[in-house]
Amino acid sequence: PLIRREDYLSPAYWIRQVDLTLDLDAAKTIVASKLTIERNGQQPAQPLRLHGEDLNLLRVLVDGQSVSFRHEDDMLVIDAPAADQFVLEIRNTIAPEKNTHLSGLYASGGGLYTQCEAEGFRRITYFLDRPDVMAVYTVTLRGDKKKYPVLLSNGNLVEQGELDGGRHFAKWHDPFPKPSYLFALVAADLVAREQWVRTRGGKDHLLQIFVKRGDLDKTEHAMNSLIASVVWDEARFNLPLDLERFMIVAVDDFNMGAMENKGLNLFNTKYVLASAATATDADFDGIESVVGHEYFHNWTGNRITCRDWFQLSLKEGLTVFRDQEFSMDMAGSASARAVCRIADVLRLRESQFPEDAGPMAHPVRPDAYQAIDNFYTSTVYEKGAEVVRMMHTLVGREGFAKGMSLYFQRHDGQAVTCDDFAQAIADANPDSALAVNLALFKRWYSQSGTPHLSARGQYDTAASTFTLELSQANPVTAAQPNKLPQLIPVAMGLVGRHSGQALALQLEGEAAPSGSHRVLVMTEATQRFVFTHVTEDCVPSLLRGFSAPVLLDDGLTDADRLVLLAHDSDPFTRWESGQKLALGRLLTALPTGTLELDEPFVHAMRGLLRDPSLDPAFKELALVPPSEGYVAEQTTEVDPQRVHAVRESMVQQLAARLNEDWAWAFAEHQVREGYRPVAEQSGKRALANLALAMLVRHAVATGDTVWPGRAYQRFKDASNMTDRLGALQALVNAHAELAAPALERFHALFRHEPLVLDKWFMLQARAPERDGRVFAQAKQLLKHPDFTLGNPNRARSLLMALAFFNPAAFHRADAGGYVFWAERVVELDAINPQLASRFARALDRWRHLAEPYRSAAREAVARVAARTDLSSDTAEIIHRALQE
Ligand code: ARG
Ligand code: ZN
Repeated sequence: PLIRREDYLSPAYWIRQVDLTLDLDAAKTIVASKLTIERNGQQPAQPLRLHGEDLNLLRVLVDGQSVSFRHEDDMLVIDAPAADQFVLEIRNTIAPEKNTHLSGLYASGGGLYTQCEAEGFRRITYFLDRPDVMAVYTVTLRGDKKKYPVLLSNGNLVEQGELDGGRHFAKWHDPFPKPSYLFALVAADLVAREQWVRTRGGKDHLLQIFVKRGDLDKTEHAMNSLIASVVWDEARFNLPLDLERFMIVAVDDFNMGAMENKGLNLFNTKYVLASAATATDADFDGIESVVGHEYFHNWTGNRITCRDWFQLSLKEGLTVFRDQEFSMDMAGSASARAVCRIADVLRLRESQFPEDAGPMAHPVRPDAYQAIDNFYTSTVYEKGAEVVRMMHTLVGREGFAKGMSLYFQRHDGQAVTCDDFAQAIADANPDSALAVNLALFKRWYSQSGTPHLSARGQYDTAASTFTLELSQANPVTAAQPNKLPQLIPVAMGLVGRHSGQALALQLEGEAAPSGSHRVLVMTEATQRFVFTHVTEDCVPSLLRGFSAPVLLDDGLTDADRLVLLAHDSDPFTRWESGQKLALGRLLTALPTGTLELDEPFVHAMRGLLRDPSLDPAFKELALVPPSEGYVAEQTTEVDPQRVHAVRESMVQQLAARLNEDWAWAFAEHQVREGYRPVAEQSGKRALANLALAMLVRHAVATGDTVWPGRAYQRFKDASNMTDRLGALQALVNAHAELAAPALERFHALFRHEPLVLDKWFMLQARAPERDGRVFAQAKQLLKHPDFTLGNPNRARSLLMALAFFNPAAFHRADAGGYVFWAERVVELDAINPQLASRFARALDRWRHLAEPYRSAAREAVARVAARTDLSSDTAEIIHRALQE
């Protein structure tokens, strides 16, 4: 059954207060719920219908009296009580240890934890489990004191004490009304790192990070990130911490990254635990960004929440935008900010662009869904963040801050829509291009698909003008046959072809130039911009900072790109120019499968690598050719083996032709000080590790043993995980003989560190395929004693790594990968539908493949579709994949 946005109705009842008592036990937890309910006068009188899933109902009382009730589908239906306000008491039981979905209340490593977003609360007790029903919660937890010495829920601890039989209790009260998806509880044997912070108003707040005994020494970075988040949100957006205590709890088994439950965030351990020895620079960055993300949700998500789940991007797009800005501000220098931006754009293009071109294409504000968990997508999150970023670009930093204030002034404490947000930003900036074109701008919320922007420029020497013609095409996508033009902010400049200078920009009809950087606002299908007083032939630098999430055909030549690569003041466009030079070569080579790198390209790459004015982190990003996924995205019929071969050939040639330069780069970018997870160190490590991988590759090709030997030594001696993993990866990717003992050693060293074991699995699943060995090894790893489908991180480290990040190992002419996929989807679906439906998406774009892959993949999808026992999550993905 499809749920549609246009069918939204406010609820027939409101729940104002919730009083929960849980007798906690992994096998059988008893839930007693006392709800203060009010009829909603806006809706006709009707029975009370409550959500419930996998519950065992014991008793229902209305105002203390037993009443008649019935079950309809997954609903508990209670005939309309006579009174407009009444107290409903429900008693039910649940079995946390049998809950392998990891939604609702479940067991993980001896403790009990909840995950309620989006619809997990109904797996704890019967409720109006929708985000526009907001209530004040009081929660009493009772349980065995030995097993569960720590009992946590949202808000403030109001009482605790001993009970008979070795049991104890804790009573929590959360003064903020909240929707059920923000409810949380934890009962486990944990210890906490604690820290007090003072906010501007002079109030003190307790920050706590709870982890298993033995993990406390890995929480310093998370705590630093949390403190930084508190400070940042107050400084940048004037949003202070509103709680007496703010808790983070790390849990091993978790479907997503983390969850922003009011005052009690639950985190995948991956985004909390880090030490130099066990976590890479990327892990440290991930922790900073996710800790920030969940903390920022306290205002954008919790204080103002979503009216319904179609509005998910209201909180997610905005909060991703905020965490991206946070990471950039933390990174510091302009060039470190640019590196953050490039990484964000890479992520968007890698996963959101393909999504927007396939059967799961949906608008940032979806119109219909079967299982809402399938819509926690990169479209809602990452494209949603780009939509917020475009607003920021259109109204400016100050204007955006004003808009945010107005948003909170109007809607604090409410459950609202994406329209309410856009309206607040526009109303606070009435003269902005956003306000003037608001309806047009909002097509970003309603239209799916990535707009294609094409640009053609012409310099007129005699007239000293440069004419830029922009046109957009909005592709047909799933469920949306007709598309209208969108508002596209195009940040741009003109770079002198000979001088390399940024030219002054003066549009026809303007009295004076307005600097050398500006934002053109495109509102029609085709538009022409004429720049006057252009003193020299120039190259347009377009879509600076990736000012809109579009596919740009800039019509530039290699010569133009080399100008931008060498001179553009915008680091994003500079990076993009290098990527496009590489992409062009890869695409040209695809039909024949052979690639011979030309000297100008090699020269340009060498210039980048050796340029003393560039950051090492930037160089690393610029010297890695576009991924196989991104290359595949640019073609109509994808032959994954071809794409792999061509890209490998490019990397191999860069390794060979820049051999001396890589050796220089490796020597030049060693970090001599002690490990710190900061941008200036991590950039050097990233470039040195890339250089090492290139050196090992070339050495293997030429039969030289020095660099492989050095890599092995470095792997053994490394003082931090980034360098250890970098060296290991260099070996795994190129040198089978040394890789085997290195992998064995790595496993022995870290067999008690689950997050590091995940890396061990992932590294093998992502190794460049050669003669089917990687695929064979991945199948073998399924049977490894450390492998389990029950832990999402572990399952992802093998399955997702192979199917999403190793196309050449996964897409096999013998269809072995697809058989593997179908079996795992079915197997996983019986355990954890959310995880299964994510994995199922690895083949949702089978239509995009060339033969023989296409037919074989279709067959595998059809085989899964034929099953009658699929979860609603997985069924939705599979059936959409087969729809015409
Ligand atoms: N709100 C969480 C976050 O982005 C994600 C929770 C998603 N949960 C789910 N079951 N889909 O921070
Ligand atoms: Zn979020």
